Parts: sequence; structure tokens; C-alpha cells
Amino acid sequence: MAEEAILGFLQNNDEIAHSGYFAAEHNLDHEEVKNVIKSLQAFRYIEAKVLKREFFDLTDEGKKYAAEGSPEFHFFSAVPEEGTISMDDLQRMLDPFVFDVGSKQAPKKKWVAMGQQVSRTVQHVEDKVKEMLLQIQQGLELDQETLKSLKYRKLIILTEKWSGYSEVKKGPNYAPKRRSLATDLTRENLQNWQELDFKEYNVNAKGQPVDSGHLHPLLKVRKQFKDIFCQMGFEEMPTNNFVESSFWNFDALFQPQQHPARDSHDTFFLKAPWTTRELPEDYVARVKQVHESGGYGSRGYNCEWKREEANKNLLRTHTTAVSSRMLYALAKGPFTPKKYFSIDRVFRNEAVDKTHLAEFHQIEGVVCDRGLTLGDLIGVLQEFFSRLGMSNLRFKPAYNPYTEPSMEIFSYHAGLEKWVEIGNSGMFRPEMLQPMGLPEDVRVIAWGLSLERPTMILYKCDNIRELFGHKVDLKKVKENPICRIGIESA
Ligand code: PHE
Repeated sequence: MAEEAILGFLQNNDEIAHSGYFAAEHNLDHEEVKNVIKSLQAFRYIEAKVLKREFFDLTDEGKKYAAEGSPEFHFFSAVPEEGTISMDDLQRMLDPFVFDVGSKQAPKKKWVAMGQQVSRTVQHVEDKVKEMLLQIQQGLELDQETLKSLKYRKLIILTEKWSGYSEVKKGPNYAPKRRSLATDLTRENLQNWQELDFKEYNVNAKGQPVDSGHLHPLLKVRKQFKDIFCQMGFEEMPTNNFVESSFWNFDALFQPQQHPARDSHDTFFLKAPWTTRELPEDYVARVKQVHESGGYGSRGYNCEWKREEANKNLLRTHTTAVSSRMLYALAKGPFTPKKYFSIDRVFRNEAVDKTHLAEFHQIEGVVCDRGLTLGDLIGVLQEFFSRLGMSNLRFKPAYNPYTEPSMEIFSYHAGLEKWVEIGNSGMFRPEMLQPMGLPEDVRVIAWGLSLERPTMILYKCDNIRELFGHKVDLKKVKENPICRIGIESA
């Protein structure tokens, strides 16, 4: 509607002088006219100039000045060309209003010098105020400065204001009807290129986002943990066996065969192959002995230890199974101190909820050296977690079958405003280390935590199922920023 009206009007007329009046005359909504003008202007069908104007009327005082001249002009005229005149004489000669205003304005304009006696400082003056008021009366446009001074003297008053209106003329691409532009480089368009108008390229337009692979948040956080371990001189343990025997997962760790974790309610056992093929026999014998009757200063569990139980295959329930294999291997050679770490998947037959899945990732650190103490463990944990931005730690005594003493690790989370449990730790028991054949004075300190917990905190995710498994939100994975460990939780 508005577009046809504007283009049609310009076909027979040079210009639309005022878009507001044009809209009113053609019964159009000016907002619509404004939008059409913008769009036609973009394609250079038309040229538009914004009309910004204010209209004024003269006040009664203004009218008087316009007709009779300004008071300052009369005041000036009353001062003799040569010599001086006293204020008293001026006051007697002039109309009180003219005297009042003129005696202020004339010296301000530097027309006269004032004292007891008044004299001219210039011989000739122009009554600009009168001229300008006459111009306004004729509807002429004046500069802002002048308007401001006249408004200030209350000689004029605003009656109309134009804003948002424009004056419209034909543009270089003017046509009585808008041509539709070709946008695609199709075979037909290219063949008819001479008849067509192509839409101009917008080189500033944003491109389509490039589709590419994205790292999963768990992988990003894992990398940061790995870097911290490497910076602290830890070697990575080989964790590429999800299937483990009960022996390495439990027995080697001095976990009693009656322990509830060894129930199928808590652990996934394998059907096929359901038992392990081989175990180091001499070591198995020492493990059996320490469980049944103790040794190395321990009383053991005083319970029968069954080989069949140890043979059972399972999906490893913690990466400490890997640590036990590593320590056993280490015990075989001449002893050297070691720092090991691992980050990999573990499995537990648990009820799945917002924060628990049947599989997750464990991060584990192990340090073995002669004469290590609980103080060393606390020190290493402080160092490790402060590199994660968690330097405010607390430790709580805990129980693990394979560590003594054991400590749960808590960190104060400023964002959540509470202490959160971030890991479990301890010193491996002699009942675990001695049967492996490690020298008697070798102590092993270790700790473990889940990878999911810090990742959920960092990525502000409160449902683990969004992070892992078949309900994972791929869009989130793509859009997730890189979250730097340490910034959030410090
Ligand atoms: N294996 C323990 C767990 O699954 C963690 C841990 C590792 C505890 C090493 C002590 C020492 O929670």
C-alpha cells in the first residue's frame, strides 16, 4: 500500500515534501510509510532526507518588538551620538519597560558604556532582534543559537516540532514498481543475467556457523586434570581393561570376600567369560594368607578365603584395581619411588538418578616412596587441589578396607556456599602392600575422585544424564564454553 503510493506519487511529482502530510493525505499510517521509505532507500529507489524542524510563534512581547523595535535599540537611540546622558534623564525620557529591559540588554551587547553617565561605544547598531523576529513571523528557519536566545527572552514560543518525518525524492534506481531481485546464482538466472537485477552481496553478513567436531565437557575437564598430574610429575597408568578379576579389584586390596560391595547388587559380574584365566599363584597364596590369618602385624579377617570368589570377572568398580596391578608390578623390580595417576571409566550397579549413573570416571593419584606419612598425603592433596583452584580443604576420617588412615576430602565451594565432598584418600594398608613384596618401609598414599562431579559444578549442570549417556544434550556440548578449572570454585 504505502510502497505503491510512494513510488506512484514520485512518477508524476518531483518530491514528497513531507512524509507526515503525505501519509495523512493518502490515509496511510506514518509508521508504515517510514518503514517503506527505509527499505526503498536501501535499494536506492528513493532518496530521503530527514526533516528536523521546530516552528515558533511570537509571544505578545515578541510581536511588540517585531513591530516597534527592541527595547535595547530604543535605549541606544536615546543616547546622544556624542557626549553623555545621565541615567536619570534616560529614565525620564523612556517608557519604563523599555528603560528597564534596554538598560540591561544594551550594555550586554556592548552598545553603550554605563555609569552615572551613559555614552555610546559604537556609532551605529542594527536591531537584529527585531529582524529575527520578523523572519520567524515569515516562517523562515533560524539557527539554533538565535532560537535559544529568543526563547530565553520569552519572545518566541514553540508551536510545532517535526521529527521522524522525511522529504522524499527519486533515487538512482527509481522505478514505478519494485523489481524483485535475483538472489541465487541458478542456471536460469545466469542465462538471463542481462534482464535481471541481482541482489547485492552483503559482505558484512555473518556466515553460517561452521559445523565441526566438539569436545565433550568431560574430555575438556579430563585434559585439565591430566595436565595437572603431568605438571606434578605423575605417570599415567594403563587403564585399558574395563573387565577385571575380583582378585585385582578386591582381594589384592585386602577387601574381605564378605564385603557388601562384592554383592551383585553393587557390582556387575560377567557371565562370559565369568572367571579370569590366570593369576600370579605365589602372590595369590600370600593374599589368601593375609585374609585368612593375617601376618605383617595383622590378624587378618579370620575367615575362609575362596579362590573361586577371587576368580570372578567383573566390570571394575574403581581404578584402584589398576593401582593394585601397578604396585604389584613395581614390587617385582628393585624399588624406585613412583607417582602414578589414571583417569578412566568404572562401573557400579547402582540406582540411576540425577547425580548417579552405573558408569562414571574416576581420577586416581598414587605416590609410593619410603617413609611417607599422613602429612605427605595432606601436602600432596593441598598441592593437587589448589592447582584446581580449591585451596580451602578439610579432611574427615573415613573408612576404606584398603587404607588406614583414610580421609574424605572436602572443599569449600564459594558458588554453592557450602563444603562439598570432592574425594576420598588414604594410606594403603600393610596387608595390601606387604604381600606384593614391596619393601617394609615403603608407604603408598593415594586418593580418588570422580570426573563427573567437578565437571557438573564447572558446567553448571545439575543432571548427570545431560552430560553422559543416551540423553546427552549434543547442542550443549557444541555450545559449552571452555570452563577453566579454578576460576569457578576458588
Ligand atoms: N577407590 C576409592 C573409591 O572408589 C577411592 C580411593 C582411592 C580411596 C585411593 C583411597 C585411596 O572411592
